[in-house]
Amino acid sequence: MSKTNIDFPDNLLWYKDAIIYELHIKAFRDGNGDGVGDFQGLLEKLDYLQELGVTAIWLLPFYPSPLRDDGYDIADYYTINKSYGDIEQFKILLDEAHRRNLKVITELVINHSSDQHPWFQRARRAPKGSPERDYYVWTDDPTQYKDVRIIFQDFEKSNWTWDNEAQQYYWHRFFHHQPDLNYGNPLVQDEVFRMIDYWCELGVDGFRLDAVPYLFEREGTNGENLPETHAFLKKLRKHVDDHFPGVVFLAEANMWPEDSASYFGNGDECHMNYHFPVMPRLFMSLQMEDRYPITDIFDQTPAIPANCQWAIFLRNHDELTLEMVTDEERDYMYKTYAKDPKAKINLGIRHRLAPLLGNNRKKIELMNSLLFSLPGTPVIYYGDEIGMGDNVYLGDRDGVRTPMQWSPDRNAGFSTANPHKLYLPTILDPEYHYESVNVETQRQNTSSLFWFMKRMITLRKKHKAFGRGDLNFLPVENPKVLAFTRTYADETLLFVINLSKFSQPAHIELTGFSGYVPVEAFSQNSFPIVSENETYFFTLAPHDYQWFVLEKKHTDVIPAFQLPTINVALWGRF
Ligand code: GLC
Repeated sequence: MSKTNIDFPDNLLWYKDAIIYELHIKAFRDGNGDGVGDFQGLLEKLDYLQELGVTAIWLLPFYPSPLRDDGYDIADYYTINKSYGDIEQFKILLDEAHRRNLKVITELVINHSSDQHPWFQRARRAPKGSPERDYYVWTDDPTQYKDVRIIFQDFEKSNWTWDNEAQQYYWHRFFHHQPDLNYGNPLVQDEVFRMIDYWCELGVDGFRLDAVPYLFEREGTNGENLPETHAFLKKLRKHVDDHFPGVVFLAEANMWPEDSASYFGNGDECHMNYHFPVMPRLFMSLQMEDRYPITDIFDQTPAIPANCQWAIFLRNHDELTLEMVTDEERDYMYKTYAKDPKAKINLGIRHRLAPLLGNNRKKIELMNSLLFSLPGTPVIYYGDEIGMGDNVYLGDRDGVRTPMQWSPDRNAGFSTANPHKLYLPTILDPEYHYESVNVETQRQNTSSLFWFMKRMITLRKKHKAFGRGDLNFLPVENPKVLAFTRTYADETLLFVINLSKFSQPAHIELTGFSGYVPVEAFSQNSFPIVSENETYFFTLAPHDYQWFVLEKKHTDVIPAFQLPTINVALWGRF
């Protein structure tokens, strides 16, 4: 999977071995009882994250904002939304997280701001063509950039919106209240460097670069992945490497593998990037009981530089996006995973993991086993570690952003406020009700999903091959079975996964591993040795996943134990 073999100090590569936990401050824990989660609440729950075993937290936007896009509409890049806390509390959070060896990744939403940002308010009043006006992208002709697609199709009809005050149209790739910043203006570029310095100096460990393919616009193009965008990102990266080595960029580039990989540059652009196309194909493979969608997308994935890493995920705070699939695949996904028409939004499905999988524990485990074993750094969405449900009847993507379920108590232990005051209602659906699906209850039952996740995380941390190993799919005649190895240095892990709901046989070619013993990774049980010229046979239970460490059997010749020689003839003589 690696393109180059440049040497990097190992401590700077922390993101390769990371397990990231994505959460929204507002949704995690309300420390002051006002119905909205806050930094104080998160501080109370850092021990929980440590207990779960994750190594990094990705915080969704916590800046002052009118919250018309859940904080991705930023009105001030340098402070904290008052409902969540203040900079002092943020600093404490950084210290406390670091004390527990947890890295903190924050959001850098630089493609657009809120229309309430002072820059936009100033821009609309400033004279046409002035540097202040040009903080954003304006036109008199809304047919400009007509080849650019609309992302929020359910909400917006055009990427241009008329502004009465400015007497011009302004450009926006997302909601109309999120005007795009103009990267053609060097002053805007300087602002981004300033922001990065500010948050790095406070001590953040990384930035998720929101909506990063859309920074620049150019006529006659689709406005995505432009060379200017890559050049700008390389400048940002250089700056960070020079001044804050170890700080990581995680790109949100929802693109086909080739375009996505371009955000790694030659190891001089983004350290990480989500592998968007893999995600829906995991769900497809499961439903089709066929490994092809998974193997095919990895076959299409180019090698990436040695200092780069994919981030892989099953769910996040957005809809399960179906932008990176064909029309037929999208229809298939809607048919199988969005049974209630209310579940569809834009080009995707607004469900959490457990409801998507029909709350089927075996399927949930299997999908997590893929998340944890395929190449890349896994990202867990808060609440999915306990199988939280969702509420598709809430607006936009709010149904997957409801309060974290801590206990069977009032408001799921999230807040002591009057339930009517909560920023969003808790999940009351009988199947996922917080009285049964919550951390407290699951912690007490070692068979719970929470414990399963904990065990998988613990195991992952024992083997570097998870984060760094290559990927090699193994030939198996049964298409319902996926088998692959991950090798790093002298360690090889073997994964055998049954995508079917029925038991399956699998003859697996373990070429090159004769003389090795598959040792089951969780139990340390040794399986029969791999012999030459024979396929290895597995019997797999429904939705089974088996993980092994391939250990070379010791073949050195051990001198045979010497029995004492007894001279019978001599004895006979005495
Ligand atoms: C990203 C975020 C999404 C947001 C959009 C616009 O895609 O993940 O939640 O709505 O950017 O900022």
